[in-house]
Amino acid sequence: MKKRIITLILILAMMFTMAACGKEKEEVNTAYIDRKVGICIYKGTDDFMKLYEAELRKYLISQGFADENIKTVDAKNDQKTQNEQVKKLIEDKVDVLIVNPVNPSNAGTITDMAVDAEIPLIYINREPDKDEQDRWSNNGWKVTYVGCDARQSGKMQGEIVIDLGLDVIDLNKDGKVQYIMVEGDPENIDAQYRTQFSIKAINAQGIFVDCIDDQVGNWETVAAQTIVADDLMAYGDKIEVIFCNNDAMALGAIRAIKAAGRTVGKDVFLVGVDALKEACQAILDGDMTGTVFNDHITQAHSVADCAIKFIEGKRVDNYIACDYVKVTKDNAQEILDLLK
Ligand code: BGC
Repeated sequence: MKKRIITLILILAMMFTMAACGKEKEEVNTAYIDRKVGICIYKGTDDFMKLYEAELRKYLISQGFADENIKTVDAKNDQKTQNEQVKKLIEDKVDVLIVNPVNPSNAGTITDMAVDAEIPLIYINREPDKDEQDRWSNNGWKVTYVGCDARQSGKMQGEIVIDLGLDVIDLNKDGKVQYIMVEGDPENIDAQYRTQFSIKAINAQGIFVDCIDDQVGNWETVAAQTIVADDLMAYGDKIEVIFCNNDAMALGAIRAIKAAGRTVGKDVFLVGVDALKEACQAILDGDMTGTVFNDHITQAHSVADCAIKFIEGKRVDNYIACDYVKVTKDNAQEILDLLK
């Protein structure tokens, strides 16, 4: 009898625990389930923005938004299309607008639409200029920018190269660094700053450089592959360092370097920006010298946190910054683990 009672108690305890677990599972955060978020991406095929959007969506859902109420639109790199998309999202009465502008110089138009409709606006990834940002603060508008300072990423690229030592990178021993630069979209401040500040960081060490070529690869792998292949053909072993404004282009450079029979770390050096998984792996494999982590995870979380603050009527700063991180063989695995 005693045994039966104990068994019964055990079964009841188990049932109670299972019910409690089940209940825990059911406890999905639904705090903002009815709130609508509009996300406008400049170009849906951009490798970095794909990661960013996915993280943003995932994090918004974890904070209580419903997947179906988060609407992402792709402007396919066309500003007119994006303006129309913003207009439509405003008509759909989204609670917050998140915009990755095609041309940051057009931000004023988007800001005016959002402010007129009294919808809070968060710019991401492509920073509108100072005059535009001043309008937000001077008028107390619910508009902000979340992003990194691209000057820092350029500086870090230069430092990754120079940290190897001039004796290592100066392959022809002329006391200078011969390099090629593969730029992203030149309208984009990230591309401009990375191009300038990577070289400034080298000059800051009292080292002179020769720019062998500087071309626009528009953030794209295939475009960069062609540029680097042509340069390797035209200038051969004169090229000591290849700077790419992002990793998608550095991955194209790797293909060109391999096809030309050159070896990174031995007869050429290559740096990018973003820390895409493939780039971290390439660093570990010795196919790339380094990159700079453009922390889309922290940026996406800050964006969602701002969205929530706006919805709750809390104050949001007009500029929210995030730091870049240097990535070399020493920490590439660590960053790769973070990205998995
Ligand atoms: C990233 C690039 C990306 C660009 C899009 C930059 O911050 O480094 O990979 O293509 O943003 O605007």
